Amino acid sequence: MNKLQYKFSGKTTTYYLDADLSYLEKLVDKSHTVLITDEHIFGKHQKRFGGWNTIVISAGEQFKVQATVDNIIEQLIEFGADRKTFLVGIGGGVVTDITGYVAAVYMRGLSFGFVPTSILAMVDASIGGKNGIDVGVYKNLVGTIRQPEFLLYDYSLLKTLPKEEWVNGFAEIIKHAAIKDAALFKELEKNRLTLYQKDKAALAKLIRRNVAIKSAVVEKDEFEHGERRLLNFGHTLGHAIENVYELSHGHAISIGMVAACMISEEFTPFKETDRVMGTLKKYGLPTLAEFDPREVMAVLRMDKKKVKDSMNYILLNKIGQAIVKVIPINELDKLLQSIITAR
Ligand SMILES: NC(=O)c1ccc[n+]([C@@H]2O[C@H](COP(=O)([O-])OP(=O)(O)OC[C@H]3O[C@@H](n4cnc5c(N)ncnc54)[C@H](O)[C@@H]3O)[C@@H](O)[C@H]2O)c1
Ligand SMILES: [Zn+2]
Repeated sequence: MNKLQYKFSGKTTTYYLDADLSYLEKLVDKSHTVLITDEHIFGKHQKRFGGWNTIVISAGEQFKVQATVDNIIEQLIEFGADRKTFLVGIGGGVVTDITGYVAAVYMRGLSFGFVPTSILAMVDASIGGKNGIDVGVYKNLVGTIRQPEFLLYDYSLLKTLPKEEWVNGFAEIIKHAAIKDAALFKELEKNRLTLYQKDKAALAKLIRRNVAIKSAVVEKDEFEHGERRLLNFGHTLGHAIENVYELSHGHAISIGMVAACMISEEFTPFKETDRVMGTLKKYGLPTLAEFDPREVMAVLRMDKKKVKDSMNYILLNKIGQAIVKVIPINELDKLLQSIITAR
């Protein structure tokens, strides 16, 4: 096992990398803990939940909504959960987001930890304390920023992760490389998904590096006044098309990253859209999609990154270096039109 710590404003979070799920017994008091997971993970790993109070939610983004929160709260009441109860979300980003959110509001706040079980949750969703739910087509419109006590990584859980979810997670890994780590980008260009699926050591190293990239950004700027915004690379358009067209998060941000690369070429010295597209394709990710710019713009107007009539858009100067560019909504509208007609 490999222990790391990151210091956030209100809390130091401990990361147990390369650990085993059974270590959870050492971290929390079983009789005062409730695990929250989804039906897929519970179905595949039922034995590992033996003896724990567990709440199982339906799997899928469409359940990352207030109705599921209400349902979890009712079950917490049935378990007699009080302010000393510890919550542990064991799952992908949907489970970790909703667990963190429930933990923030139940009795005005419980302590919580995560066991991320998807690549995406391991390198991204479980890190950084942002926990929220969707409202209609608006992704993560409602939420909190509150850090977990710990993150416990058991890579053996990935054995049951469907192939398309590996692909999804690699969208965030490629994002981290594109905004922060040119050497990692090169490594990804050279390798392929099956290598990381087969080679445990390569995967462990890759996850550790991505955990470090995201955690360091959040440590510097927990409340997203500067640096943390860079993590939104590909996410502005990505979130808009994700819920309107029911794409997976990874697919949506992959398309969003390509659009952001094309917009970068208009405003910065960036010239490597082809390289980014090639790498996304290599990992099975889509790079272009048909979408209706008017519909997308309607959602963008509600985006949290919008300030008055402009948008903080994340662009690349070069691979490994991202910047924030303020783009007026009108101009963005035209740019998106031209991206669509350019194809
Ligand atoms: N809070 C944040 O900072 C943050 C960052 C990025 C993404 N997110 C959120 O994360 C969510 C996406 O995360 P995700 O891709 O993990 O989605 P997810 O939780 O829906 O998981 C994807 C699918 O894989 C299944 N699964 C997960 N782990 C498994 C395993 N080990 N074995 C078998 N099946 C498994 C799930 O049941 C689900 O069907 C989105 O809601 C997104 O908004 C949040
Ligand atoms: Zn994301």
